[in-house]
Amino acid sequence: MFAPDLLKSKVILITGGGTGLGRAMAERFLELGARVAITSRREAVLKTAADEMMAAHGGEVFHTVCDVRDPEAVNQMIETVWKHFDGIDALVNNAAGNFSSPTERLSHRAVDAVLNIVLHGSFYCTLALGKKWISSKRKGRVLSIVTTYTNTGSAYVVPSAAAKAGVLAMTRSLAVEWAPYGITMNAIAPGPFPTAGAWDRLMPDVRLQKMAIDRIPMGRVGEKSELANLAAFLLSDGSAYINGENIAIDGGEWLKGAGQFSWMSALSPADWDALSERSKQAGK
Ligand code: HXC
Ligand code: NAP
Repeated sequence: MFAPDLLKSKVILITGGGTGLGRAMAERFLELGARVAITSRREAVLKTAADEMMAAHGGEVFHTVCDVRDPEAVNQMIETVWKHFDGIDALVNNAAGNFSSPTERLSHRAVDAVLNIVLHGSFYCTLALGKKWISSKRKGRVLSIVTTYTNTGSAYVVPSAAAKAGVLAMTRSLAVEWAPYGITMNAIAPGPFPTAGAWDRLMPDVRLQKMAIDRIPMGRVGEKSELANLAAFLLSDGSAYINGENIAIDGGEWLKGAGQFSWMSALSPADWDALSERSKQAGK
């Protein structure tokens, strides 16, 4: 799909890059010639991921531990990666926390557990790197992984919905404020992609997974490679004029939820024959 050197020599930092979608993006960027840094809380997970990716594709994956909830640790992590590669070209805000629960069951600590990772963590990383880009007069790209429910909110994942909506507001705001510095900001809103992190917490059994898939017009979940390709495109030179966008990659899921008559996809051909006859009669 892409030229093999699409991201040649770019340095891309991915938070939560040792697992799931973060790792899939890291692997694709590496294949396309980027130098990649991954960060999260767990050293062993990061090291294994980095070693496996380098063994499979060559190139360089640098890993360093950071809890994005800690602004000092974030500043230190950005300095470490910047020093290692002599600069950073792009940040992917991918680290997140989430679980489903009736909201009235949540403690304030449960709310903070999600808000601190998603909203504060993404903001701290963006701010720390943005300051460095501006002071060193370097261009930069920020890509944040949000969710489709930033538009609508969502019952049962309310801290995540509030936090991701905040990340999207940051994205759109800074797309305008920082464009004069050569910094662009975009977001990707994935539909359901099977990862251990998301599936084990949100859809831990087959019955729930089937209910989730039934909502998707294309009748299937996303493949990690499909999301990684979109991310690669958005970080490539050819997409430089895209700024402040949020691109859904969900097989049409959120539009189906929004369309007033989408529920009619459950009707059978016989239902449609009868309905059509009645509506023609009504027309007469
Ligand atoms: C209710 C819960 C809970 C749950 C934790 N808590 N899980 N409350 N239901 N399922 C409460 C705890 O009881 C505690 O409150 C507070 O939250 C903090 O819990 P900790 O375990 O101490 O939190 P912490 O160690 O900070 O872990 C954060 C975490 C965890 C978010 C809870 O799951 C995590 O580390 N997640 C990272 C990875 C992740 O979530 N990936 C999924 C991304 S998917 P009390 O009051 O008892 O002290 C995604 C979008 C998916 O984002 C969209 C799908 C289509
Ligand atoms: P995942 O594998 O659980 O990814 C979450 C990552 O965030 C982990 O690598 C985790 O690593 C890291 N992380 C969590 N807390 C952190 C902290 N405090 N500091 C630093 N890193 C932290 O789940 P995923 O499905 O790949 O999710 C990736 C992104 O896609 C998230 O932004 C998620 O909201 C979004 N998304 C996913 C789906 C889906 O269906 N999978 C749908 C919509 C949106 P450590 O535990 O090592 O810290």
